Amino acid sequence: MGTNTTEDLLRLNQRLLVSIAEGDWATYQELCDPTLTAFEPEALGQRVEGLEFHHFYFLLGGRAGKHQSTMCNPHVRLIGDVAVVTYIRLNQSVSATGDPVSSGSQETRIWQKKEGRWWHVHFHRTALPQPGSD
Ligand code: GLY
Repeated sequence: MGTNTTEDLLRLNQRLLVSIAEGDWATYQELCDPTLTAFEPEALGQRVEGLEFHHFYFLLGGRAGKHQSTMCNPHVRLIGDVAVVTYIRLNQSVSATGDPVSSGSQETRIWQKKEGRWWHVHFHRTALPQPGSD
């Protein structure tokens, strides 16, 4: 697998995470296939298809205040024109009372190369337990 392809995919994936945190719908739409499928905690176990479900959160305006999303220990598996990107996503932000808060999730994001560029076509996110929540 070409190192450049791996780096390109990690850059694209990070751009996607930044667009989510900043409520940047134009960038999210640019990176996602219109038929994107997803499992994420917000959908309560349902498989979501298309972008409308995600648009709801962008209309709320993204995260307020300082925030940062990091892909920890990312792995890219290339299968022809499909890439499987897996990592732990670490989100840092600031609570309403000004305290720093962290949350984490396991993410799998699938990208497909079509018409000479990569499109985000599927993801699965599982939230990790918050410290002290058991
Ligand atoms: N909830 C949108 C995304 O994680 O892609």
